[in-house]
Amino acid sequence: MEVHKISCIGAGFVGGPTMAVFAYKCPDLQISCLDLDPEKISRWNSNELPIYESCLLEIVQNCRGRNLSFSNDVSNEIKNSNIIFICVNTPTKTYGEGAGCAFDLTYLESSVRSIASVLKDCTDKKIIVEKSTVAVRTAEIIEQILTHNAPGLDFSVLSNPEFLAEGTAVNDLLNPSRVLIGGKNEEAIETLANLYARWVPRTKILTTSLWSSELSKLCSNAMLAQRISSINSISAVCERVGADIDEVSTVIGTDERIGNKFLRTSVGFGGSCFTKDVLCLVYICESIGLTDVANYWRQVIIMNEFQRNRFTKCIITSMNNTLKNKHIAMFGFAYKKNTGDTRETAACYVASTLLEEGAIIHVYDPKVTRQMMLNEMNLHKFLDFISADKHLITETNPYEAVKNSSAILVLTEWDCFKDFDYTRMFQDMLKPAYIFDGRNLLNHSALREIGFRVIALGKSD
Ligand code: UGA
Repeated sequence: MEVHKISCIGAGFVGGPTMAVFAYKCPDLQISCLDLDPEKISRWNSNELPIYESCLLEIVQNCRGRNLSFSNDVSNEIKNSNIIFICVNTPTKTYGEGAGCAFDLTYLESSVRSIASVLKDCTDKKIIVEKSTVAVRTAEIIEQILTHNAPGLDFSVLSNPEFLAEGTAVNDLLNPSRVLIGGKNEEAIETLANLYARWVPRTKILTTSLWSSELSKLCSNAMLAQRISSINSISAVCERVGADIDEVSTVIGTDERIGNKFLRTSVGFGGSCFTKDVLCLVYICESIGLTDVANYWRQVIIMNEFQRNRFTKCIITSMNNTLKNKHIAMFGFAYKKNTGDTRETAACYVASTLLEEGAIIHVYDPKVTRQMMLNEMNLHKFLDFISADKHLITETNPYEAVKNSSAILVLTEWDCFKDFDYTRMFQDMLKPAYIFDGRNLLNHSALREIGFRVIALGKSD
């Protein structure tokens, strides 16, 4: 099938960078990234993009105005496209059947309904690509909505889940570990595979059935999350038996069958995907009667909460169960380094418990804005009982953040935290001065020499 134009509904963390890389690698195609949010589109059309990713601005500037456009005009752009990607949010449902576990398909359904109403009189063949992370058999829902609302439309639905990680999105798109295309129609699969093959080696383009593709995406994230929960569970064992989690993790990771990635202990994984996707897998297992399997995967989430709570409890007990009006510096609020994203960040839960204890928290994060931090806290209703202005303060200078503080908490693994002048910080803090390293990032022996009491994950000293 010939392709001249591609459009994508949803200009978020996945849609924006993916379309930018398509435009960059396929200069002969017109690529259009669509969103109903006018503010988001105007930022994509400016030099202040709505998301930060290394090299993204350069690629957007290179292609915008040539073969890449960002627009609110969803109907017109879809009508003229041969391939339409759906990249909208599928958050966890907060109400009704499956609340707290299943995906909320509101945005996805309404996107498909718009596609159906715009394309109902179209005579040329269209490929609809499901890129949002979805539960298994969602492609069937898309097919049914299109069949019932655009009966004459000649279309194929493909599943093409995205595996990019935030912070490395452009590199992950340019050099993906694999591209996965699931579908029923060989011609449609081949058409999309040929586009990716312009820059991805054929051996890395995997084709499967629709259902395998949808399930593989959920399970890839579930298995990554499971590795982190596994190593975090072992960090608790290390603390009790006198072992060192970094040594244990290195030894485990040198077995080539296991590999060394995603074995870094932390205060708990965050981000918009892991918790949501594991919970969706739990829901699927429950709804098909596999209770033991559902319980197995639910344990990944329970262990993540256990790690977060354990870390927070350790801060409270180390500081004599007395945090009222104590100043605490929090280094990092993003769910991981190199992003300003705060969704489901462990920092949010840690901050909430310490605020309940009466602490005054000074947050320094190189990328997180105050608004983003407050949004995440408010989403969980963590600020309902305190005055954020007085108790949750954002600092633009880490040295100001530590002044008169009793403790420093490291919650994100930003590299710049390693280069701070901790001798200077120690002088400005109340004594004993604590460092609770929730990422095992800093040089603990050097900090102890300065005089800090250092408490780290999976270490017994
Ligand atoms: C994750 C997956 O890695 C991507 O492959 C996937 O495409 C994406 O979700 C998605 O479904 O959209 P992302 O959430 O951006 O990507 O971030 P990760 O790098 O996977 O980190 C997730 C969390 O795990 C972070 O909080 C990170 O700090 C934590 N982590 C990671 C650890 O605690 N330890 C590790 O060893 C690795």
